[in-house]
Amino acid sequence: MFLESFRVESPRVKYGDGEIQSEYRYDTTEVVPPGNGGGAGWVVRPKSVTYNFKTSTNVPKLGVMLVGWGGNNGTTLTAGVIANREGISWETKEKVHKANYFGSLTQASTIRVGSHNGEEVYAPFKSLVPMVDPNSIVFGGWDISKLNMADAMARAKVLDFHLQKQLRPYMESMLPLPGIFNPDFVAANQGARADNVIKGTKKEQVEQIKKDIKEFKEKNKVDKVVVLWTANTERYSNVVAGLNDTMDKLLASLDKNEAEISPSTLYAIACVLEGVPFVNGSPQNTFVPGLMELAIKKNSVIGGDDFKSGQTKMKSVLVDFLVGAGIKPTSIASYNHLGNNDGMNLSAPQVFRSKEISKSSVVDDMVASNPILYKPGEHPDHVIVIKYIPYVGDSKRAMDEYTSEIFMGGKNTIALHNTCEDSLLAAPIILDLVLLAELSTRIQLKAEGQDKFHSFHPVATILSYLSKAPLVPPGTPVVNALAKQRAMLENILRACIGLAPENNMMLEHK
Ligand SMILES: NC(=O)c1ccc[n+]([C@@H]2O[C@H](COP(=O)([O-])OP(=O)(O)OC[C@H]3O[C@@H](n4cnc5c(N)ncnc54)[C@H](O)[C@@H]3O)[C@@H](O)[C@H]2O)c1
Repeated sequence: MFLESFRVESPRVKYGDGEIQSEYRYDTTEVVPPGNGGGAGWVVRPKSVTYNFKTSTNVPKLGVMLVGWGGNNGTTLTAGVIANREGISWETKEKVHKANYFGSLTQASTIRVGSHNGEEVYAPFKSLVPMVDPNSIVFGGWDISKLNMADAMARAKVLDFHLQKQLRPYMESMLPLPGIFNPDFVAANQGARADNVIKGTKKEQVEQIKKDIKEFKEKNKVDKVVVLWTANTERYSNVVAGLNDTMDKLLASLDKNEAEISPSTLYAIACVLEGVPFVNGSPQNTFVPGLMELAIKKNSVIGGDDFKSGQTKMKSVLVDFLVGAGIKPTSIASYNHLGNNDGMNLSAPQVFRSKEISKSSVVDDMVASNPILYKPGEHPDHVIVIKYIPYVGDSKRAMDEYTSEIFMGGKNTIALHNTCEDSLLAAPIILDLVLLAELSTRIQLKAEGQDKFHSFHPVATILSYLSKAPLVPPGTPVVNALAKQRAMLENILRACIGLAPENNMMLEHK
């Protein structure tokens, strides 16, 4: 059974004027080491904390500014949203296609509400709390290439020709703002594209981005803006004491026009100073320690890193399943080839290294969760290869081989071939990131004993499901397993309307 929408009736939830208030019992456990009131051995104690949530239901008119708007992801997302908004359909040799939001967690997935007469009841994920309708988003952004969005969409070669033809009139007049370009941070092959760049010192560039955001907001009469980086992967920035290791040092380095501040960090500084959420969809370390500190001090949302779209998404499911089943993955070999501009940029070793780092830590938490299988410090062999093969374009091929040790010295080998239409997988993820980043700014909570409501930590772990290398506040655990990430997100939104977490026990049927 499927409900388009529903309303919660409970003494623990109040639908008020412009907000939903809920009271939520958070049942968790406390782990107590020996000698801390727990006696001789380790003790685990159930613990309950009551939380109050307050969610604003004033859904804003949202503006989304993409850094790298004219790239494959940026144009595919913009085109996809226009096609949905205008109800466009197009014919291919297979059939007449209609615009949809498949691949978006918020727009195309469901949650289990409960059961009725022995039948499971589901509702749209987006019906949990009021969210921005993607069709109402105003898009804009920056690109170092000045092509208009219609020509940039054609350059991307992602969408069907007959769809592009219908979209062209909507996209021809969309022009990207000049971007911050620094050839030192990307592959040399990207220089040829850079005909739309902001001049001046780094400080002046940051000021220009701040001005761009303000003007975009005013011109389009949007209530809120979210900025998302979907520009080229950069090489890692060096994290150096005195340069970018603290907020003060980073801001001083900006004043001194220090070379080692990447363009992505400059955009992020501008957004944090403007109080605008900034999400990083690429693997580089945009969020150097000084920037993290700045975002925390200013309580401005930052999230990332790197969209989790294809190979890594499979890995964060498969390794979780294997380790959770008591099977021991010992070797993971991942090969990719792709032929889009992202692939061309990644062919430079220093840029590839960023991708390698973000892809390789994805199994760490799963391995660490099972010391029955792995000795301390033991890790599966894990190698990632990416090659540029122009002919395949945006249709990336990801091939993985997982070898695991099983019962009594046996071996199990799984080989996967995954054709990842790269930008068609990434665009709905970008949509979810901006919608959830916006939503997170409307939720406040307080634990029992606290007198004031507060927003979520500015480092938005709520976005982890969508990120290859989830950014977490300093000193907190990283969760990569996809099922856990989804459960976290769904259960937080359930808490906002006073619903218990989905625990899958289904005791009512047992
Ligand atoms: N499935 C996926 O597509 C996927 C998954 C994970 C991560 N990513 C990352 O997303 C990013 C974008 O992917 P894409 O396929 O759209 O790449 P793309 O090369 O097609 O697009 C990037 C765009 O950014 C522009 N650009 C580069 N530097 C810029 C700057 N400093 N300021 C403004 N614009 C700038 C380029 O001109 C280009 O138009 C890449 O870093 C990629 O690694 C993509």
